[in-house]
Amino acid sequence: MKKLLVSFLAILFVFSSAFAAGELEIFSWWTGGGEEEGLLALFELFKEDNPDVEIINAAVAGGAGTNAKAVLKTRMLGGNPPDSFQVHAGMELTTTYVVTGMMEPLTDYFDEWGVKDKFPQGLLDIVSYKGDIYSVPVNVHRGNIVFYNKEIFDELGLKEPTNWAEFITALNTVQEAGYVPLAMGDKNKWPAGQLFEAIMVSEYGAEEYNKLFRGEAPFDQVALDRALDKIYELTNYFNKDHAALTWQDATRLLYDNEAVFNLMGDWAEGYMKTLGWTPGEDFGWFELPGTQNSFMLISDTFGLPKGAPNRENAIKWLEFLSTREAQDTFNPIKGSIPARTDADMSKYDAYLTSTIEDFSTKIITPSIAHGSAADESFITSMNDAINILLTTGNTSNAKRSILWAAEDAGLMAY
Ligand code: GAL
Repeated sequence: MKKLLVSFLAILFVFSSAFAAGELEIFSWWTGGGEEEGLLALFELFKEDNPDVEIINAAVAGGAGTNAKAVLKTRMLGGNPPDSFQVHAGMELTTTYVVTGMMEPLTDYFDEWGVKDKFPQGLLDIVSYKGDIYSVPVNVHRGNIVFYNKEIFDELGLKEPTNWAEFITALNTVQEAGYVPLAMGDKNKWPAGQLFEAIMVSEYGAEEYNKLFRGEAPFDQVALDRALDKIYELTNYFNKDHAALTWQDATRLLYDNEAVFNLMGDWAEGYMKTLGWTPGEDFGWFELPGTQNSFMLISDTFGLPKGAPNRENAIKWLEFLSTREAQDTFNPIKGSIPARTDADMSKYDAYLTSTIEDFSTKIITPSIAHGSAADESFITSMNDAINILLTTGNTSNAKRSILWAAEDAGLMAY
């Protein structure tokens, strides 16, 4: 009898450890241009300690989650969640998935893994709801940087502009020389939204921009008119086919020596590196004039949906993402800085090193276009308003739409 019981337990053990190996479905929108390379490096490292776990890469193409977010929502609402998914820190996580009760809190795991004090409190605050932490931040990007093609920039004798007038002069010089001054690829709308939010910071100021999204200041200020005028003025400098291009296509115009400037998040530097460019040698960067004191924050995080089919593996994945090793493996490739504050600086290039420094000294302004500052309906309305403005030039309509959206979102419109 005893023998029988022992063999039964042995079978059970073998079965359960085989079961624990199982699968792990990871959902993201990282499918190319530095992003996929970073994700695959993470998978490889995870597999070193979990060789029997089969990772299912459920990435859905489309920058900034253009297509992925809709697929994810359908799956979550249909009770078919992946084991873990990419989601931006801030309202994209909290209002969409946490408030609606679809996520498991991770606070106890953060304690168990001993990582609570390894992340900046401000970042943990925006992935928390009612005192509980709901996701693991894997990276931080800066979204108010203008990258430039150094060869043409030097050939034209340009200097990094520090104010708007200098920037416009530089754009004119580039245009006269026959290059595209400002590369834009707003096929998926958000790159124009991202440019607009940076211009908002430049016009409202970083502190006031933050107040808008805390409901402490009205949107309807002269700064809004100026921001709308400015983005429309910039259309004079875009590539003509901007509405047909993705963000990668636009960044690539720099690499192909067709364009000089491109405002994009740090993922563009990851992309340029995978094309073979070296930061500081082949491309330079500066903050969009007027935003020098701000750090437009975009942070990717992963959480644990309720009903994750392979919950144990998902927890292993999340613990892994919280480690310094995982963050220092992923971010130098992806073109982002670690969300943890104890990075191994030797792993980061000149651009990312300066970004790490800036992250701790500048005013953090959460991105609208990338889901941190506002809820989804505001983002959609803003991106739509800006894209219509770029083609029609009708700033008063754009203003009206943004004020209505602010009102709908419970922010102070007037
Ligand atoms: C952002 C995301 C980045 C990068 C970018 C372009 O929303 O946070 O990780 O993927 O989109 O796809």
